[in-house]
Amino acid sequence: MTRTVAIVPAAGSGKRLGVRTKKPFVLLKGRPLVTYALKALSSSKHIDGIIVAADRGSVGRLKGLIKRYRIKKVIAVVAGGKTRLGSVKNCLERAGNLFDIALIHDGARPLVSEREISGSIRLARKYGACVTAIPEVDTVKLAAKDMFVKKTLDRSVMYRAQTPQAFRFEIIKKAYCREGRPEATDDSALAEGIGRKVKILEGSFRNIKVTTKVDLKLAEVLL
Ligand code: C5P
Repeated sequence: MTRTVAIVPAAGSGKRLGVRTKKPFVLLKGRPLVTYALKALSSSKHIDGIIVAADRGSVGRLKGLIKRYRIKKVIAVVAGGKTRLGSVKNCLERAGNLFDIALIHDGARPLVSEREISGSIRLARKYGACVTAIPEVDTVKLAAKDMFVKKTLDRSVMYRAQTPQAFRFEIIKKAYCREGRPEATDDSALAEGIGRKVKILEGSFRNIKVTTKVDLKLAEVLL
């Protein structure tokens, strides 16, 4: 039997949302944003434990929410890092050696489905590393610093990475131990960096990341 830990980075500043409230606590249909992702993960029979990263000043508040909303399976709320990768790294360290699979899911994606949770775990077991992603629908331009187009990329082979991303534990631990990729904005890029092949699970356009006020409105419509 494999044991899976869900790691939830929720320590972002939420500046792009343009509100005073810290992003995890912004209300979405009357409930704090981060509780949606946590509920979805704790309800999954494939998840055995959850570790959340909150910004240093919000650890206590998040623990309070977890109690209030009766979110099960949370092992720890740890202080996040300066970047998303730093936050995930702190969670991985806290997980120790108790788990075979780590599923990483942004606290800012409230609409994750059971299909994405179980599907990414299944592919991580089989291939070692899995990223949920959706096909690109816009034409993508590579821009130069002076804002002239350098090149138009081939959309038909492009995917936009989302979360969940799932990994065999020893792979993601090793990927995170290697220093020198501060620019990476997701976990699977680090797995690629140590030479691992990453399988894509086709995700859903519903599984948006709440970054701006528009996203918040959209999430309200989709929920
Ligand atoms: O910055 P980005 O929008 O990619 O953030 C994705 C997720 O990473 C969010 O859930 C955010 O709270 C989290 N994050 C974090 N620690 C940071 C920055 C972002 O846990 N320092």
